[in-house]
Amino acid sequence: MRSPRTLWALAALLAAAGGAQPLQSPLHDDDIPRILAHGPWPPPPVRDVSNRVSGQPAAIAFGATLFHEPRLSRDGQRACASCHQPARGFSDGLPRAQGLQPGTRNTLALANLGQQHWFGWDGANDNLWAQSLRPLLDAREMGSSLAQLAATVRDDPALHAAYRQAFGQPPGSNDERVAVDAAKALAAYQETLVTPRTPFDDFRDAVARGDRAAAAAYPAAAQRGLALFLGRGRCYVCHSGPNFSNGEFSDIGRPFFITRGEVDPGRHGGIQALQRSRYNLLGPFNDDATRSTAVGTRHVLLAHRHFGEFKVPSLRGLARTAPYMHDGSLPTLHEVLRHYSELDENRLHADGEAILRPLRLTDQETDDLLAFLASLDGEVAR
Ligand code: HEC
Ligand code: HEC
Repeated sequence: MRSPRTLWALAALLAAAGGAQPLQSPLHDDDIPRILAHGPWPPPPVRDVSNRVSGQPAAIAFGATLFHEPRLSRDGQRACASCHQPARGFSDGLPRAQGLQPGTRNTLALANLGQQHWFGWDGANDNLWAQSLRPLLDAREMGSSLAQLAATVRDDPALHAAYRQAFGQPPGSNDERVAVDAAKALAAYQETLVTPRTPFDDFRDAVARGDRAAAAAYPAAAQRGLALFLGRGRCYVCHSGPNFSNGEFSDIGRPFFITRGEVDPGRHGGIQALQRSRYNLLGPFNDDATRSTAVGTRHVLLAHRHFGEFKVPSLRGLARTAPYMHDGSLPTLHEVLRHYSELDENRLHADGEAILRPLRLTDQETDDLLAFLASLDGEVAR
């Protein structure tokens, strides 16, 4: 049933479009452009010019095979899909990843990667194929080597054939080239992982069309949560755009100790790793000779304020990707909201300081924000 409150809210939206100031509405006319800015969804597919097989069906198929292939790891026991499990939104449900050795960060869910330009919690990579090569070579994750990767692709008849299909020629003798190509096929596959449409998207499009009947299907609690998200909560400042992330880095006052005395430097370390990397967009493996997407990498500057900053995560599809935060320290969305409600301003430095303040949410407001976050979830596409 529609509650009177819902009707008021909808009347408000429509009245706002016509310029009248509504009564009793959780959403105001100022909110309409902000609501519209979180869509449309899904976004048009993005082709990555740094990857010559981006968007190509044979490469996507080869990448999907490699994603589930444990022989790409040193011990033959773990694949990308061991940590990025399709049924869990391509994450693993653990606070911190468990590879060949225990990791220090939460496994990032894989979705909507075409919407991003920095990868990893610290943005240590500026492209998806480099980010895909990293776990293969990292001793703590899959522990393989360029030689092992290339040999696996060359020597297995099915992988050899799939490589030839994807790249138009058999794998050559240069191990690094073959390994980077495998990572490019993995990237082509991961670009196809897009979260589905959600109740929020239906509401947003209804607002765009001025379709009162369709907008009425969006629950009143979610509308109130959305009003907080765009209003007093100021969440939209960082969780902006169709993917609910500005793709950049912030400090929101989470502790960044890994163990006593050992800290995760976050973006500060990420920039250093990015600049060192042979696989960044300025390096020899970018397939785009003009380096047209390398502008951010060329201009990124290391500053002290980056210490303890982490990537702003997307808020789509959160239901399956608990626990939350870069270190998996918050088991539920309720606890995430408690963080924003009670946050310790003394912990904040850099940008977060100017935007965030403890919200002191009431129980009702917490429930409304949870209802809104739940409306950013649809059936996860496989
Ligand atoms: C041992 C668990 C583990 C394995 C195996 C693993 N990953 Fe990850 N993945 C992680 C963790 C943890 C992160 C976050 C890393 C960070 O911030 O440093 C991550 C991050 C990523 C990201 C960045 C996503 C984003 O939004 O920035 C991509 C892409 C990715 N992994 C792809 C892969 C691919 C492809 C493979 C297989 C070749 C793979 N991963 C294997 C744990 C794993
Ligand atoms: C200053 C930028 C900023 C603002 C404002 C902000 N966030 Fe965040 N949010 C982040 C960053 C950065 C992280 C990751 C922090 C980390 O892992 O240490 C995050 C993490 C989250 C997560 C966890 C997601 C995951 O996959 O782990 C949720 C949920 C979330 N924010 C919701 C909100 C809500 C709701 C608001 C408003 C009350 C809000 N955020 C305001 C930057 C922001």
